[in-house]
Amino acid sequence: MLVTLKKVLLDAEKGKYAVPAFNINNMEILQAIIRGAVKLKSPVIVQTSEGAIEYAGIDYLVAMVKVAAKAPIPVVLHLDHGKDMKIIKQTINSGYTSVMVDASILPYEQNVKKTKEVVRLAHKKGISVEAEIGAIQGIEDLVSVSEKEAFFTDPKQAKEFVDKTKCDALAISIGTAHGPCKFKGKPMLDFKRLQEIKKMVNIPLVLHGASQVDQKYVQKAKKYGAKLVNARGVSDVLLRHAIKLGIRKVNTDTDLRLAFNAALRETIAKDKTAYDPRKLLGPARDEIQRAVEHRIIVCGSRNKA
Ligand code: G3H
Ligand code: 13P
Ligand code: ZN
Repeated sequence: MLVTLKKVLLDAEKGKYAVPAFNINNMEILQAIIRGAVKLKSPVIVQTSEGAIEYAGIDYLVAMVKVAAKAPIPVVLHLDHGKDMKIIKQTINSGYTSVMVDASILPYEQNVKKTKEVVRLAHKKGISVEAEIGAIQGIEDLVSVSEKEAFFTDPKQAKEFVDKTKCDALAISIGTAHGPCKFKGKPMLDFKRLQEIKKMVNIPLVLHGASQVDQKYVQKAKKYGAKLVNARGVSDVLLRHAIKLGIRKVNTDTDLRLAFNAALRETIAKDKTAYDPRKLLGPARDEIQRAVEHRIIVCGSRNKA
């Protein structure tokens, strides 16, 4: 059943677990997510980036997720990193149950202003809003921790931001980065900052760039020709601790991409006669499902549907 982000995250807050959010671009990825979530009886957030909307078309995505949401689990259809007001408005009017407004690269006052406007439009229709304060994108290029810290979320500012905007969930920056190369040195997150933010902010917190970057997939993809240098993610141990300290939405895209990549490359390399797309994409879909199930278990959302 299609539900709002607010609903699943408030349940997660009560139960002290996190709800996994997975990015989709096509039918196979969506099916893998839903199959994994149904098998483990987990609520799930299905999210599309602006790029996914451009790739697949909003009508296809909404129609597919509406079919997927007939499954006996709570499903949220969420816009990931909404930056373009036109796209944000389009999703609000097209059946999404939640949107993220990402104005984190704008100066603080402009971030507040844009977020408030999205909250006004979305709440009128009963749709939830995730906003971001502190920058997650781009920090992977920075080398030192002090350089990164300039982008980290300030706890006091986070509280003021939530009070002013009335958003329903807040994405924070504590050291993660998008993509497969998250850490130049030793992987670590600023847990002290997370604790301070949690103390001050009374809405669910979101961790972006949270993929594990499973070395099993990295090695297999490389074995069959992928170029992946310095691929390193947020270990299960780090993620479990972040959830213990209050993270309630865990964003995952890279792990699914790596599972897809490894499986597809292996199939192509091993089965030279396969030319039917179903023979090529079927094993990749199964591997994505395995990655989804692993994330559900680490998030603690198994049997919470
Ligand atoms: O946070 C970004 C997600 O991985 C989506 O990436 O913009 O390439 O679809 P994308
Ligand atoms: P990963 O690149 O770590 O999977 O993060 C995805 C994400 O944050 C989507 O918004
Ligand atoms: Zn993100």
